[in-house]
Amino acid sequence: MNKVNNHTDLGDVLIRSDLNVPMINNEITDKFRISKSMNIINSIYESSRTITFTSHLGRPNNSDPKFSLIKIADAMSELLDNEKVMFIDAIHGSKVEEAIKNQKSKIFLLENLRFDEGEINNSLDFAANVTKPFQTYIFDAFGAAHREHASVVSFGNYLNSYQGPLVSEELKELNKILDTNKSGYSVLLGGAKISDKLSLIENLLPKVEKLMIGGGMCFTFLKALGYEIGNSIFEESFVAKAKFLMDSKYGEKIVLPTDFGVTESIESNIRSNIKVEDFQENHIGVDIGNETMSEFSSILNASKYIFWNGPMGIFEIDEYSTGTREITKVISMTQAYSSVGGGDSVSAINKFSDRKKFNHISTGGGASLEFLEGKKLPGVNIYKPLII
Ligand code: 3PG
Repeated sequence: MNKVNNHTDLGDVLIRSDLNVPMINNEITDKFRISKSMNIINSIYESSRTITFTSHLGRPNNSDPKFSLIKIADAMSELLDNEKVMFIDAIHGSKVEEAIKNQKSKIFLLENLRFDEGEINNSLDFAANVTKPFQTYIFDAFGAAHREHASVVSFGNYLNSYQGPLVSEELKELNKILDTNKSGYSVLLGGAKISDKLSLIENLLPKVEKLMIGGGMCFTFLKALGYEIGNSIFEESFVAKAKFLMDSKYGEKIVLPTDFGVTESIESNIRSNIKVEDFQENHIGVDIGNETMSEFSSILNASKYIFWNGPMGIFEIDEYSTGTREITKVISMTQAYSSVGGGDSVSAINKFSDRKKFNHISTGGGASLEFLEGKKLPGVNIYKPLII
């Protein structure tokens, strides 16, 4: 029997996971968060009377059935060998209490926490109601740890509570990046907006040897340097800040693309390749070019630690995907310790490579960025870690 913190009896356990997975036409398109969240089951199975998962999905208005967790329960059952996850279409109240009391199953999943506004309003009544049938609470939703919601900060008030292993693993891995003052540490950032990642850049820049910037966000930097960028995406209100960063004592660490894949209309799927100084007014940058790929690749290949967040271009369209595909492959094959965050980078890995070839892929989107920005997350380190 597995013992957890020397407890053999956790009783009825409530686990807050982040099962907020991408869905298209009501079908789950990526089960990464589900499978990671279910790793805990084996280690507490014998010590628990019942195990009940709870999560949010999306940002629903009221109880829009489009955001029901019923599909997630099916996906969880598929991932288990000989067990079915019973879905309860309630978050609290008699349906939940009765199912738990009568052990209608061993593993349950409750309905979307955000169907009750008590969740995002951090209502203590809501927290008391949801936790009522349970004895143990495990907070294992790293992806939601940056939200001051009831399940993150208040459920633990009512039960014997622990920080789950997924949260502890994320903290251990992300701290490797945050604490890195080692030589050979490089960061590769992409994605559309610099505004999302500005604090991250400021926090990481002093620690890294090189910070490579591709994707849509590089155009704000190029604009700040006075380049013509045509109709490429950029953020006017961040141009001055980008200039400030490049002029700072760490400015030399920033590596920008020197050539691009461009198009005149994104829908055309027609790409041509140009040097940065050859941008025309009607060009839209949609990918990094070959020269940039080799420059980024040689930095990545010489690195010992790599943190990557964000694609190099519009990788969902084949003609504009070369840069992201090549970078994904290079990182997957380096000897460096590789840590990846952000949903789009994970989608790129799913598309072009194999997750097993990366040392750490974070389940957190906004949460991992905020953590690496140096912020204290409301849900982190407030419970004792569950030792399994
Ligand atoms: C995420 O997908 O980053 C988390 O599940 C948090 O979701 P939220 O941004 O809707 O709070």
